[in-house]
Amino acid sequence: MWCGVFAILCLLLGISEARKGFGPGEQDWGYVDVREGAHMFYWLYYTTANVSSYTERPLVLWLQGGPGGSSSALGNFQELGPVDTKGNPREGNWVQHVNVLFIDNPVGSGFSYADNTSLLVTNNEELVDDLLTFMLHFYKKHQEFKSVPLHIFSESYGGKMAPALAIWLDEAMKAGELAEPGTLKSVTIGNPWISTRHICREHSNYLYVNGLIDEDGVALLDAQEERILSALKRHEFNNATNEYLEWYDLMQELTGGVYLYNTQTHLDPSEDRTYGYGPELNDLMENVSVALQINGSVYASQVIDVLTSLHEDRLKSDYNAIPRLLNETSVKINIYSGQLDTLVPTAATLSLIKDWAWNNKSEYLQANRTAIVIDGILQGFQKVGGKFGMYWINRSGHLAPSDNPTAMQYVLKSVTQYDAESSEK
Ligand SMILES: *[C@@H]1O[C@H](CO)[C@@H](O)[C@H](O)[C@H]1NC(C)=O
Ligand SMILES: *[C@@H]1O[C@H](CO)[C@@H](O)[C@H](O)[C@H]1NC(C)=O
Ligand SMILES: *[C@@H]1O[C@H](CO)[C@@H](O)[C@H](O)[C@H]1NC(C)=O
Ligand SMILES: *[C@@H]1O[C@H](CO)[C@@H](O)[C@H](O)[C@H]1NC(C)=O
Ligand SMILES: *[C@@H]1O[C@H](CO)[C@@H](O)[C@H](O)[C@H]1NC(C)=O
Ligand SMILES: *[C@@H]1O[C@H](CO)[C@@H](O)[C@H](O)[C@H]1NC(C)=O
Ligand SMILES: *[C@@H]1O[C@H](CO)[C@@H](O)[C@H](O)[C@H]1NC(C)=O
Ligand SMILES: *[C@@H]1O[C@H](CO)[C@@H](O)[C@H](O)[C@H]1NC(C)=O
Ligand SMILES: *[C@@H]1O[C@H](CO)[C@@H](O)[C@H](O)[C@H]1NC(C)=O
Repeated sequence: MWCGVFAILCLLLGISEARKGFGPGEQDWGYVDVREGAHMFYWLYYTTANVSSYTERPLVLWLQGGPGGSSSALGNFQELGPVDTKGNPREGNWVQHVNVLFIDNPVGSGFSYADNTSLLVTNNEELVDDLLTFMLHFYKKHQEFKSVPLHIFSESYGGKMAPALAIWLDEAMKAGELAEPGTLKSVTIGNPWISTRHICREHSNYLYVNGLIDEDGVALLDAQEERILSALKRHEFNNATNEYLEWYDLMQELTGGVYLYNTQTHLDPSEDRTYGYGPELNDLMENVSVALQINGSVYASQVIDVLTSLHEDRLKSDYNAIPRLLNETSVKINIYSGQLDTLVPTAATLSLIKDWAWNNKSEYLQANRTAIVIDGILQGFQKVGGKFGMYWINRSGHLAPSDNPTAMQYVLKSVTQYDAESSEK
């Protein structure tokens, strides 16, 4: 990158120097202290697309779900980064199309850490606050992105984090803070955990229809889900999460340990319980920490504390954030859903969309649902109208970017219009 030669000019322009990190392409990474003693790690991959400047392509912010999942490990190496968990190049990676920013969020996930676990966030507002502080620092360091279209992608628990973040980001940008007004273009979330009520209604049905439980299983699961919902109604949120953990065990027991993230993939159930945190990935992250010259022993060391700290908040729903974004901002909203996911079945997402009210929803309702066919293969379906789009992802479970990279690259392109951006300039 030419900043090496023109270092002073780059400093003046606020263009940061890319560094050689881990794997191909140029990168930047580091820590932002979002509060005293709370250190948030980020890893930015500059696009490897053949463009004259990386700012010709949008910036995608990827937020892992969980809570406590590491974007820089799980999102990057298991789902969409340029290198896979075995250290091999990933053909369907997103960095070949756009710039990707992974944030280990909340503090305590991945390489992010707190000096004292009492500093970990306890609810979604605190979590979003930290992210907003992070973005403020990010745009100070990377001023070249201040007018580059920003798209947030997230999945699962991200259904709760990403829309809430978007509301505050858009507002800060409108006030001239962070970046130029309107820089945030869209929020796209996969198999999102948004409304516990809608999700709980669909679990037993999904498992029954797919031959994974029988009528007795339906009765047992429904009774357990009722305990979750009634705890939520009583505002006993700790109890709700405890009942949810029991429900999870029950679902494993009834289905013989089927991999809940994708019912058509066979995995050892002990691996399932530690999704992502197996020895292979830990090994890789050790190597990553050496290459990035950061302290590898902080990696995932506080993930249990993150879960403990958010225990009470976990099943609280944020039903209104998306309709609010649609009513009050120009930010586009997209949801994608892998058809083979048990945790947040597609039917749960559809029933939530049905119940949401937003201005001009008719534009979405009137849009035709069409097949996504790529090279003659059916990859899914889409229904996009007005500011809202829904994508069904074929051959995919909870982690769509890794299960079906072809379909998800299509969604990435369709949402960000990344090649339209470069020809505009
Ligand atoms: C990159 O783009 C330039 C200009 O469009 C073109 O001349 C060149 O062949 C491209 N390089 C590759 C490797 O595609
Ligand atoms: C961590 O914070 C708690 C609560 O503020 C405090 O009691 C404890 O002494 C702190 N621990 C360390 C090691 O600083
Ligand atoms: C949740 O609360 C109910 C009612 O107080 C109680 O019966 C149940 O044991 C609690 N569940 C868990 C998992 O602690
Ligand atoms: C980590 O690095 C070592 C030494 O270069 C290598 O042998 C090993 O395969 C790497 N592990 C992973 C998971 O990439
Ligand atoms: C690395 O992190 C671990 C775990 O937080 C800590 O105990 C250790 O002191 C750190 N090492 C350095 C050199 O900062
Ligand atoms: C609804 O659609 C109308 C006509 O396209 C447009 O003028 C209006 O701004 C839209 N309202 C919102 C909240 O998007
Ligand atoms: C959005 O607008 C719709 C229709 O105009 C309204 O019914 C709904 O309550 C609004 N929702 C929010 C969260 O603003
Ligand atoms: C939807 O499909 C119908 C039937 O194929 C067609 O007549 C109509 O024009 C389509 N609507 C849009 C908005 O594309
Ligand atoms: C999903 O895709 C596969 C191969 O791409 C195809 O064989 C299958 O019919 C599709 N299934 C559905 C339900 O669309």
